[in-house]
Amino acid sequence: MAIRNLRYEGDEILKKTSREVPEEDISTQKIQTLIDDMIETMHKFNGVGLAAVQVGVLKRLIVIDLYDDKGPIVLINPVIIKTKGEQEVEEGCLSFPNQFAKVVRPAEVVAEYTDRNGKRMRVHAKELLAQAIAHEVDHLNGELFIDKILPGTLEYIEPEESKE
Ligand code: NI
Repeated sequence: MAIRNLRYEGDEILKKTSREVPEEDISTQKIQTLIDDMIETMHKFNGVGLAAVQVGVLKRLIVIDLYDDKGPIVLINPVIIKTKGEQEVEEGCLSFPNQFAKVVRPAEVVAEYTDRNGKRMRVHAKELLAQAIAHEVDHLNGELFIDKILPGTLEYIEPEESKE
């Protein structure tokens, strides 16, 4: 496994649309390594989600970890089939370090995706998981949270110096 280089604000790749992962490719070493690397990279930067485009790979693949008992979730070719309600939430993005703002996300999301074993799954997500899925699926369509923030809510928060 390896930490991949993140793509940051201003990188044109972040505005591109990612392509579907062919189902027969999911079991390949290349895709499985990409998944492991994305999870490791997300953990390294303390993110709750990461889309492949953020490590420079235009594939419809995202990883999410809410640091609960479910562990990292891998969603390949995710499709949001239903949303319900709204939630106004604080949000950041690993491609926009130290920037946080309020956005409106669906309160609930029903999504279908393929897991890393090639099995088609369905998830009914609420609260933070619904927010994370909506944020990451936006990445696959070249959409960034910074373009949908509520006016006047952008804050720059420097991380505390780590004592190493
Ligand atoms: Ni993001």
